[in-house]
Amino acid sequence: MKTVALIVAAGKGERTGGALPKQFAHLAGRPMLLWSHEAFAAHPAVDEIVLVIGAGQEQLLADCLPNARFVLGGATRRESVARGLAAVPDADRILVHDAARPFLAADVIDRLLRALETADCAIPILPVTDTIISIDGATLPREQLSRVQTPQAFRRAILTRAHTQWEGGEPTDDAQMVRALGGSVAMVQGDAMLEKVTWPGDLASAEARIGWETRMATGFDVHRLVDDADLWLGGVKIPHHQGLSGHSDADVALHALTDALLGTIAAGDIGLHFPPSDPQWRGAESGQFLRHAADLIAARGGQIIFVDLTIMCEAPKIGPHRSAIQHRVAELLGLPIDRVSVKATTTERLGFTGRGEGIAAQAAATIRLPGAAR
Ligand code: CTP
Ligand code: MG
Repeated sequence: MKTVALIVAAGKGERTGGALPKQFAHLAGRPMLLWSHEAFAAHPAVDEIVLVIGAGQEQLLADCLPNARFVLGGATRRESVARGLAAVPDADRILVHDAARPFLAADVIDRLLRALETADCAIPILPVTDTIISIDGATLPREQLSRVQTPQAFRRAILTRAHTQWEGGEPTDDAQMVRALGGSVAMVQGDAMLEKVTWPGDLASAEARIGWETRMATGFDVHRLVDDADLWLGGVKIPHHQGLSGHSDADVALHALTDALLGTIAAGDIGLHFPPSDPQWRGAESGQFLRHAADLIAARGGQIIFVDLTIMCEAPKIGPHRSAIQHRVAELLGLPIDRVSVKATTTERLGFTGRGEGIAAQAAATIRLPGAAR
């Protein structure tokens, strides 16, 4: 049984306004449609995802989801769904979803697919809590009303038939077309997180719903000081009569920072990502290791809040280079410099750093990851 998620994202987002159509507007640094796309991609029951975008939005999509399957939508939501449907004739079950509802939890999909086992279609609903009146002022019985969300789950055959035979005006969802055919519509519990972004203030409200999780982790590294090597510390080449030995450029400070960043997402350590046994990292510039860790965080929708570095050595003196290191690390991570702290200490001539045998570095990183919404 093949289950396809159809994300309709071909609207103009006129009511929201803004420079980009809302489905491409950024939520926590990522285009809105990426959020529900990711939720479907992570769900084991979803076999394929097809996006329906507007003509002229191809580049916007390519910029955020270069390998996504997409078709071009139509002038109305109904037409957009119909075009998406036509592109997946082999699907048995279809989940039709508005890109404008970014925060899709797996349990909503679970409830819909379970209900679909005994119905032609299943929709997520929420109770109405406000008093509802018609435009002529009559109070409507709110206990008999529900708010309908997406995704909506359908057996494909009936959804296709509903679209082919529909004769009413422009429907605002698909379940009403199935109901018009006499199909059965199961109702499952919706989710406040699925609120649609419609009006200008809704983007800010959606951001506020994300529920960030703050994490911190540390990193530590040591390299041996040797003659005949360059000394790289924090991405800066420092004039010194000795340098650090290692497989890469041996930038002990960037290695500690890289491990701290990897730690925040429990992604192992630098050796796991860039094995010293791999010849391609010989002499490698360590800035690329740091950027890789930052990219992994960004790919999870995370943001680096702060990094803190302590370099431990007797010589050279770090003070004169502190600002250059701070600026270089900030540049590598795309952070303002007041989010990058660089410190140094001797170890009072004690231990291997005290004897000048090597340099140690310790780092801490704080990040935030999108929480409840993911
Ligand atoms: N949609 C679509 N094709 C259309 C119109 C809408 O795929 N011709 C999609 C939208 O991109 C959105 C969903 O249907 O994900 C719900 O529609 P709506 O909230 O009305 O979005 P827009 O039509 O983009 O917004 P507006 O009506 O304010 O212009
Ligand atoms: Mg619309």
